[in-house]
Amino acid sequence: MFDRKHNCIVVVGAQWGDEGKGKLVDVLAEQADVVVRYQGGANAGHTVVVGERQVVLHQIPSGILHPRVRCVVGNGVVLDPETFFGEIKELTAQGIEIAGRLFVSDRAHVVLPYHKLLDQASEMQQQIGTTGRGIGPAYEDKIGRRGVRVTDLCRGRGAREFLEPRVERANGMLRLMGSPATADLDEHVELFGRLGAKLRPLATDTGLLVHRALRSGQRVLLEGAQGALLDVDHGTYPFVTSSNTTAGGAAVGAGIGPTEIDGVLGVVKAYTTRVGNGPLPTEVAGDLQAQLRDLGGEFGATTGRPRRCGWFDATVVRYSVRVNGLTGLAVTKLDVLDTFEEIPVCVGYRLDGSECAEVPSDVEALDRVEPVYEVLPGWQRTTATARRLADLPPAARAYLDRLEDLAGQPIRFVSVGTRRDQIIEV
Ligand code: GDP
Ligand code: IMO
Ligand code: MG
Repeated sequence: MFDRKHNCIVVVGAQWGDEGKGKLVDVLAEQADVVVRYQGGANAGHTVVVGERQVVLHQIPSGILHPRVRCVVGNGVVLDPETFFGEIKELTAQGIEIAGRLFVSDRAHVVLPYHKLLDQASEMQQQIGTTGRGIGPAYEDKIGRRGVRVTDLCRGRGAREFLEPRVERANGMLRLMGSPATADLDEHVELFGRLGAKLRPLATDTGLLVHRALRSGQRVLLEGAQGALLDVDHGTYPFVTSSNTTAGGAAVGAGIGPTEIDGVLGVVKAYTTRVGNGPLPTEVAGDLQAQLRDLGGEFGATTGRPRRCGWFDATVVRYSVRVNGLTGLAVTKLDVLDTFEEIPVCVGYRLDGSECAEVPSDVEALDRVEPVYEVLPGWQRTTATARRLADLPPAARAYLDRLEDLAGQPIRFVSVGTRRDQIIEV
């Protein structure tokens, strides 16, 4: 993806999240100088496998395993400082040197304990199936202009006066929602003091950092979280997350101009998964779903919930190509399909008896669509050892060719296992 003319690349999920963005970012970070997370927060779970070691990153960019790479938590992220420092501690315990190469935007908003209480309370009213990490309420406060930013946490004085009206408001909301939970002001003041001091050395104008890196010819990767169908504008609303997960959000959330971005890589599984509620047109029924889940190890990296599994959905991926302006695809988990005799691919939808070429805006309609399947022959051989396209069984290549045709974008990478070396660059 990187070359002399392409220094700034976005990696986004092109389905419902968990496509393997962490793995792709780790692979691409080999050639990068800076990796930036630009939206979402601790709802993300990005898995990176290096040798025998598996690391799940929630807020720290997936470039952190490359000692040379600088990592940035951008202004568009909602940062949970408590779990953030927990993550740093775990990585440090594994011998990963972080000092001096991890930066946090002073403009990023902060997730506080009351945001998590509000998240849980609102799930009692409307079951989105959130990760419970306080993401929605933190973004609500940001847009409502009553949020708390990293710069506020770092100020180091006036914490009680600053927090009191916010905690009071949260408690009022909790009461209104019929929740028995209450947020404690003293706990919040203590957290401010303790974590503000730890954040101060990391907090900076990260937009400027990224801008300067690009000006000096360095390579920058912008790491998306979640997936296009979870985007608050373009996803299966209201069953979405509360940020713009699509590539348009990358410039805003990293603090650079959109003209700086040179390419957008969309990561797609060779099939489809979703965790949480909302429509999933190609969801597989019964035992076959359990088989796909077990083969793919489809359990949430953040919550451990079983992921719902379905076949590849070309209508979704075509939509994703459009709303993200994808310039290439990375197909992951091809190896998970190795044992199937036949593999259905959804090539379109029918809605109320007519052809439906686009993802409908109305989730009730998306719930009603009937996928039109084309059944492709399986290859029933391992793909895990392939390192070039030529190493793949002909039926696996035909499968990829068909996905490429349907998506209308070139496949640039194929992933055939969890490890760093299990990748084919096309
Ligand atoms: P992310 O949120 O997009 O980074 O994806 P997750 O890390 O939540 O989920 C992807 C899971 O699939 C992780 O457990 C990865 O280790 C694993 N994975 C990634 N690529 C492949 C692949 O090509 N084959 C297999 N079998 N597993 C993969
Ligand atoms: P990564 O980055 C998959 C889903 C939740 C829920 C909805 C809203 O690992 O791909 P939220 O807590 O964000 O308010 O939940 O979004 N969700 C994800 N699903 N992968 C993720 O992240 C997700 N982050 C949030 O399950 O349906
Ligand atoms: Mg994940």
